[in-house]
Amino acid sequence: MAKTALKPIIITIDGWSSCGKSTLARQLAKKLGYIYIDSGAMYRAITLYFLRNHVDWTAPEEVHEALGDIELEFRFNEKAEKSEMFLNGENVEFVIRDLVVAEKVSEIAAIREVREFAVAQQRRMGKKKGIVMDGRDIGTVVFPKAELKIFMTADNAIRVERRFRELFDKNPNITIEEVKNNLEMRDYIDSNREVSPLRQAADARVLDNSSITAEEQLKVALGWVREAIG
Ligand code: CDP
Repeated sequence: MAKTALKPIIITIDGWSSCGKSTLARQLAKKLGYIYIDSGAMYRAITLYFLRNHVDWTAPEEVHEALGDIELEFRFNEKAEKSEMFLNGENVEFVIRDLVVAEKVSEIAAIREVREFAVAQQRRMGKKKGIVMDGRDIGTVVFPKAELKIFMTADNAIRVERRFRELFDKNPNITIEEVKNNLEMRDYIDSNREVSPLRQAADARVLDNSSITAEEQLKVALGWVREAIG
């Protein structure tokens, strides 16, 4: 498929924690010459700010004030061929992946004002289309009219194993139990929260990547892109 598709579209990828959303989003963006936005990185960066600055996120005024001091920006790293998250000018791409952040992110992402803050920026980034965005509520709330919505799933044990391997590379003290508990806790909070819970959009295509390769998943998704572009 040509790098610049005739009609740029919005592609949303939602699903459970660690089921390969970002891998597929990156593959599609590269193939189509689209921008990839990792919406989870925004919630992770906000969480990092709250933790570092001892923001009491149960107090709405503190949340409101803190959000006023947060500037989030994605900058493309040519060498790594990916966008990286900057929080108030600092590259936080590495540190936001830490389990310390993952332990609190779902609690903070459930706060209405936090979501409004992030969603407003996400919608601005999609204005010109030609974008792939992954998260939990992208096809349902952020871009309900997206031309292609994908909902990803994978077996629990596979998701745990994948995330454990990623985190173990950075921190050999981490245990598989900690990773499993974190994924289960986040999935529970994300799908049970009041504001924009994780849901499969009625018009989403489901992709279970438990037993297919990265190349195979890209092939399936590109077939859907072709249909969506028409
Ligand atoms: O990479 P992984 O699937 O583990 O998570 P992530 O995409 O980095 O998202 C981290 C957390 O941010 C999720 O567990 C959700 O609590 C929250 N999130 C959200 O609420 N809405 C989104 N659109 C994206 C992430």
